Amino acid sequence: MLNKLIWGKSDKHSQDLQERISEISNEEVPAHIAIIMDGNGRWAKKRALPRVAGHHEGMKNVRKITRAANAIGVKAITLYAFSTENWKRPRKEVEFLMRLPEEFLGSFLPELMELNIRIEMIGEMDVLPDHTQRAVQNAMEQTKDNTGMVLNFALNYGSRTELVLAMQRIAKKIKDGDLEVSDITEHNITSELMTANLPDPDLLIRTSGEIRLSNFMLWQLAYTEFWFTEILWPDFDEHAFFDAIKDYQKRNRRYGGLKGE
Ligand code: FPP
Repeated sequence: MLNKLIWGKSDKHSQDLQERISEISNEEVPAHIAIIMDGNGRWAKKRALPRVAGHHEGMKNVRKITRAANAIGVKAITLYAFSTENWKRPRKEVEFLMRLPEEFLGSFLPELMELNIRIEMIGEMDVLPDHTQRAVQNAMEQTKDNTGMVLNFALNYGSRTELVLAMQRIAKKIKDGDLEVSDITEHNITSELMTANLPDPDLLIRTSGEIRLSNFMLWQLAYTEFWFTEILWPDFDEHAFFDAIKDYQKRNRRYGGLKGE
């Protein structure tokens, strides 16, 4: 029934996915997954299409992976949709990217409501174009009472900026006499970050063969398991996503301790 709701019909594709969902759900599922969605431009180039066609296909893929993550019981996914460095791209490409939240949320919101998914955002909202801010704010408002998975978009997000802002807030508290220097702890740095309401990611996925973090969640990824793939983001389907989860389930997370602890 749920499967029909998610994938539309009980065909072979849905049955295969359902089998993998059952298998994965028998073991520990990462609670929070962070994804660097890379390779849209190369996907388009391979097809002699403009770069923005790759972004559009990438946006459609967000829907697919959101449903898949929700189906296996992930609690939160954070998607790197636009970094503080992405403003350096050609104006037309930036404008196109800034329209994607409206298009995505405009068509997917009813299903997000049905799936009880809550939209959140990290990044500096106030410099985004008004239409982008309105789309994101409207989706956050409409989904705010949903209690299921969090779909968290990193938009105009940069980890170093996030850390600078956190340091500034902590310094102000000290200056105002509300905090002692000796009381600065990992815990209160964590709670000043934009991700204060989320646990640290258990798994980071980056597509397209690039092996770097690109200023993404540097503090939060301290003990995260990393999974890299050559697959370009628009081609990263449910099966590739479930492969990442299966690999994660085989890993032995030690957090600096000893094997088996
Ligand atoms: C990196 O690929 C991708 C981006 C900068 C944009 C990612 C955005 C999406 C996938 C859509 C987001 C959807 C919503 C709903 C906001 P690239 O263009 O750098 O690829 P390349 O390295 O192949 O050029």
